[in-house]
Amino acid sequence: MTKFYQQCIDCGAIYSNGYVRNCKCGGLLPFRYHSIDLTDFPDQSFGDSPWKYHQVLPLNDLDYALDLGMKKTPFLKSKEIAKEISPDNPMENLYIKVEAVQPTRTFKDREAFMTVSRMRELGYSELVTATTGDSGLAHARACSIAGMKLYIYIPGNARERWERMFDELRSDIDEEYVKVIYSGITFDEAIANAISFAKKSGTPLEYGFYNQLRIEGIKTIGFEVLEDLGRVPDWYVQAVGSGVGLYGFHKACMERYGTAPGLAGIQPKGCAPMVRAFKGYSDPTEKAVDTHVLGIGNPRLYLSYPHLIRAGTVFEYGFSGGKESELKEIPGLLELYHKDGVPDVGLESCTALSGLEHLLKSGVIQPDETVVLMCSGGMRCDLPESLAESIT
Ligand SMILES: Cc1ncc(COP(=O)(O)O)c(C=O)c1O
Ligand SMILES: [Zn+2]
Repeated sequence: MTKFYQQCIDCGAIYSNGYVRNCKCGGLLPFRYHSIDLTDFPDQSFGDSPWKYHQVLPLNDLDYALDLGMKKTPFLKSKEIAKEISPDNPMENLYIKVEAVQPTRTFKDREAFMTVSRMRELGYSELVTATTGDSGLAHARACSIAGMKLYIYIPGNARERWERMFDELRSDIDEEYVKVIYSGITFDEAIANAISFAKKSGTPLEYGFYNQLRIEGIKTIGFEVLEDLGRVPDWYVQAVGSGVGLYGFHKACMERYGTAPGLAGIQPKGCAPMVRAFKGYSDPTEKAVDTHVLGIGNPRLYLSYPHLIRAGTVFEYGFSGGKESELKEIPGLLELYHKDGVPDVGLESCTALSGLEHLLKSGVIQPDETVVLMCSGGMRCDLPESLAESIT
C-alpha cells in the first residue's frame, strides 16, 4: 500500500497510483497521507535536506529520493525593513525566508526535487514543461542529475532571459538531458504547445499548479518556517505567479497544526490578473504586460485562482505602476533587503516587499502581527542594463 493518495476536492474521488493532474470531474487532487507517525518528524537522519520531512512527502521508496544538494534556507528576523516600512510602530515580528541560496537560486528547486523523484519512482524517463525560466532551470538541473530527459517549452519573449540564465548553470547541467523548444511568443502560447506535445507523445506534463507534486515539494518551506517559528504565522507574503508557493505554505500549516495562516499574494501592478480579479474587475485579463518581473508576469488569470481564494488569500499590487514606476522603486526596495543582510534579491522579492508595504498602509496587515516575507529568489538578468549597472 502507498502511504499517500490523491483526493478530489470537488467529488471526493480517490486516486492512488500514477501521475494524475486532474480528477475526471476536473477537480484539484491534493495529496493526502494515511495515518502518519509524526513522533520522528522531522527525521534528523536526513540532516538539513528537505527529505527530513519524508513522512509527508509523496514518495514510497526513499531510494528514489534525489539529492540536489539543497539545505535548509536562512530565516532572518528583520530589523531594518521592519522599521522602515512601519516607522510609527516598527514591526516586531517580521521574518524573511531567503531562497536565493538554493542550487538554481530560486525556491523552484523545492518543486523540482519532489516532481523528479516521484516521476522516476513511477518509471518515467521523460517529462515536458513550459517555463519563462526559473522553474525550467530547476527542473532541468534535477532531470540532468536524475538522468531523465526534459522537454522545455519557452516563449519567444523569454528566450534571451533563458539563454542568459542557462549560461550561468551550464556547467552544472548535462545538456544531453535537456531539449529546449522555443515556442510561440507569449507564455500562454508556449504552455498550449507543451500541452499538445504531451498529449501527442504521451510524455507527462510537469508544468504548473495542477502538478500537485510541486505543491508537496514547496510545502517544505512551510515546515522549515514552522520549525523555526514554533507556530503558524499571521501572514505569509509572496509574489504570486501560479500560486504553488502560497498553496504549499497553507498546506504545511494545515498538516502540522490544523491552522491556516493569512496568505498575501502580490503581483506587479503592470501585470496583475489575480489582484484585478480580487478587486472586482469583471475581466481581469491584462491587455499588455507592463512589467520587468517576467518570472511571474502572465496576463491571464490562472486556474489556481479559486483555490487560492478558498484558502483565504488576499491579493495586492506590488509597485505603484508599470515598468517606469518599477524602475524608480526597485533600487530602494533592494537597498532595504541589503540592509537586513539579504544580498541576492530578485524582482519577485521586491514585488512582495512592495505589496507588504501597501497592505500595512491599508491596515490589512497590522505591525504587531507575525509576518513571513518570502524572498523567493536571487536577481536574474531581468533589468534594463542601465539600472542593473547602477545597483550592482
Ligand atoms: C522567483 C520566483 N518567485 C515567485 C514565483 C511565483 O511562483 P508561484 O506563484 O507558483 O508560487 C516564481 C515563479 O513563478 C518565481 O520564479
Ligand atoms: Zn472529482
